[in-house]
Formats: sequence, C-alpha cells, structure tokens
Amino acid sequence: MSASKPILALNAFDASEAEELEGRTAEMVARRRETAGASSVLFYQEPIEMVRARGVFMFDADGNRYLDVYNNVPSVGHCHPHVVEAIVRQSERLSIHTRYLNETVQAYAERLLATLPPSISQLVMTCTGSESNDLALRLAEATTGARGVIVTETAYHGNTALTTEVSPSSLKGGSIPSHIRTLPLPAERAGDGPGDLAERFAASVRAAIVSLKADGHGLAGMIVDSIFSSDGVFADPPGFLKPAVEAVQAAGGVFIADEVQPGFGRTGTALWGFARHGVTPDIVTFGKPMGNGYPMGGVATRPGLLDRFCDSVGYFNTFGGNTVAAAAGQAVLDVIEREGLLANAEAVGAHLRGGLRELAGRHPEIGAVRGAGLFVGLDVVGRDSGAPDPEGAIRAINGLRRRHVLVGAAGPFGHTLKIRPPLCFERQHVDLFVETLDAVLTGDVRA
Ligand SMILES: Cc1ncc(COP(=O)(O)O)c(C=O)c1O
Repeated sequence: MSASKPILALNAFDASEAEELEGRTAEMVARRRETAGASSVLFYQEPIEMVRARGVFMFDADGNRYLDVYNNVPSVGHCHPHVVEAIVRQSERLSIHTRYLNETVQAYAERLLATLPPSISQLVMTCTGSESNDLALRLAEATTGARGVIVTETAYHGNTALTTEVSPSSLKGGSIPSHIRTLPLPAERAGDGPGDLAERFAASVRAAIVSLKADGHGLAGMIVDSIFSSDGVFADPPGFLKPAVEAVQAAGGVFIADEVQPGFGRTGTALWGFARHGVTPDIVTFGKPMGNGYPMGGVATRPGLLDRFCDSVGYFNTFGGNTVAAAAGQAVLDVIEREGLLANAEAVGAHLRGGLRELAGRHPEIGAVRGAGLFVGLDVVGRDSGAPDPEGAIRAINGLRRRHVLVGAAGPFGHTLKIRPPLCFERQHVDLFVETLDAVLTGDVRA
C-alpha cells in the first residue's frame, strides 16, 4: 500500500512512460511538456485530447464518445445551450470589469444570496475557488485576530499561498505549517452507534482548538468541504458535522463552508452541502460549478466580517462578478430549477449507489460505497486483505478510460474512485457505468 499521495499525483499521467505513447497523443504530450514544464498534470496512462462535449458525454479528437462520470465543472451538463446562450448574449452586450453598476450582476448577487441562510447577506464575487478560499481565510484572520486554522488531513482548498497552507493533500514534503491542525477522516467505524462519528469528529476539533491556543496561534476558524471530496467522500450520517461546527463557533472561530465541490445541488437534498449537516456557516465559498465552465467563484458572509477586513485592506477583483459571469451564473440557477436537478441528483444518485452496492456483492475488490446525491466514493480494496488498493484503483480508472468512461481518484491512499457525473445524469447512464465497471473489475483489476 502506498503512503498518502498528493492530490495532483492521483491518476496522473507519468511522464517517464511517455515513450509508450504513439502518434498524435505522443506529439501533443511532448508539446505540452515543452510549454508547461513540470506544472503539466494530465489524467490517465494514455492522456486524452478532448475536442467537444455535450450533456454527459465528451468526444476526443478521433470522435470517440466518453461517458463523463467525473466532471463537476459542467455541473448542469456540458455546454448546456441555456448557459451558452446567456454567455454569448451578454458577451455581445457588455463584458467589462466590475466597477460599474449593472442590473445583471446585482440581480445575480441577490438571487444567490436568497438561497443562503438569512445571516449570510453579503457576496464578493471572484474567479476561482482558490481566490474565494483565500479571501475567506483572510476574513477569518481579520475577524478573530488569530491565525490558527483547522482542516481535514487530506483536504484540498486551492492553489494560492494561503490556501496551499490549508491543503495537506498538496504538500509533497508533508510539512504542514505550525498554525494548521488537521483532523482525521470522518469515517464510520464498525460498531459505531448513533452520534459516535459526530462526537469523535467534534472531539478532534476540540483537541485542535486547545492545541492551537496552547501554541499561541489562537483560533481563526475551520474550513471544511462538507462532502469531503479529496478525503475520499464522506457524507453520512447527515448532521455529523454539527457538533464540530458548534465547537468552533463557541470558541470564537469562524466556520468556512467550502462549497466548491458539494455546492449547486451536487448532494441532492439541498443546493448547499452544509445544509445537509444543519449548520450555519459564517462564510460560504463557491467555485467550479457556479458558471458551468465559465470561470467564476464567490465568498458569501455575514456583514461584519467584510467591514472589519475592508477597514484595513482594499479588495478589488477585476473579473470577479463581471457581467458575463453573472449571466452564466443566472443561467446555471435557471437550469437547476427548470430541470429539477436537485431531485434528479437525489434519485439518480440513489440508483447509482444501489447499483454499485449490488456490484460490491459480486466483487470483493469493492470496499465501502459512500456518498450523497451524485457524488460517490467507492473504495478499491485487496480481495483478501480488504486493505486500500491504490494500484487496483488506478487499473480500474485506466480500464474504464479504455472503455470510454471517465472517473477519478481520491482519498489519502488514492484508492477511492471519485464518481461525480454532471447533475443531468440519467438512470440509463448509471446502468452503462455500472456495467462497464463490472467488466473492468473482472478484466483489468483482477488481472
Ligand atoms: C474543495 C475545493 N476547494 C477549492 C478548490 C479550488 O478551486 P479552483 O481550482 O477553482 O481554484 C478546489 C479545487 O479542486 C476544491 O476541490
């Protein structure tokens, strides 16, 4: 079993195997290496040149069709016509920075805020999830006067200097800064009774608070992705986060709900992942699915936090919340409502988990199947040992890719299949996925 792997290494193309590639793929990989250098991260043993996409399907340069069971940026479906049209229409009319009054931008801010708890009444728009979390962390520090932050042990919250500090899954050397405390994964254990997981998680948070205070860092807050994506997808039982959040807020810290992954309906029952846990954040951050491919993010918060921060630092974002972003964001919310995507995520997600659990009955290399809505984590484990099997997961991911089905990896060992299709996924797509995984587990994983 491998040690904990950095998130970008999971399912990444290994450049040392480049000579096994042929034709156009070999040429494109070489050109990419030339321009991107060491920063180039590609998926799969044989990277794919994608040229177009629609709905739940993507198409490569040879015209092959792939079932997308991975991508959450095109959350309401790839190239959704309503979103595309909104972007085109607004681009034709006005596309500019954010220092003018504009009805489209204002209306979007008001509509988005109306979906959040009443205490969260102000919104700063940004361009990415990283920018959003960066600002959220700065707000937490300005509000509390403290630097200590609590995160999960395999968390990923972004690529800026500040968000990398709270992203243990990015740190290759394992050197977590001294003002960060990490929490063990919120995994259920055999024999757990009701409330045991919640209490265990809250106890780890309370211990982290004591330790941060004892070391003089104080408590700025806790940032959590409530579906725990990079940790390996931990959704249940609903509400388990509540005592932990209450412990943070009672100790004077700020709770940041990172909705970059669970947000915009992914978990099925509500638009926001934190709602599943019955908690009220102090700050909510948005990203990826917000514009269905148009880069946009945001930070929503209680009014006092922005006042305090802006007393000492100016904040201006040239593109954050520009007119085209706002039009894209409006269109995304339209589609979620009109196409009933929350209910779809709930119903099709239940069908997906049911199909995978049924498959687990026939394949001992499937361990736990966890998730909510259309976000599922499936552990690949040793047939006899039941131990995490990251090599088996990589064989499964690449076997699926060869059969034109796209999934990813997550978790501290990279042995969890990250199954996260667009929210317009249908039962027939689930059935195709489950059938293909069945063939891959028999043919590629066991081989
Ligand atoms: C939970 C979470 N937060 C923040 C981010 C950063 O978002 P972005 O890549 O848009 O900066 C990511 C990206 O994967 C994420 O998964």
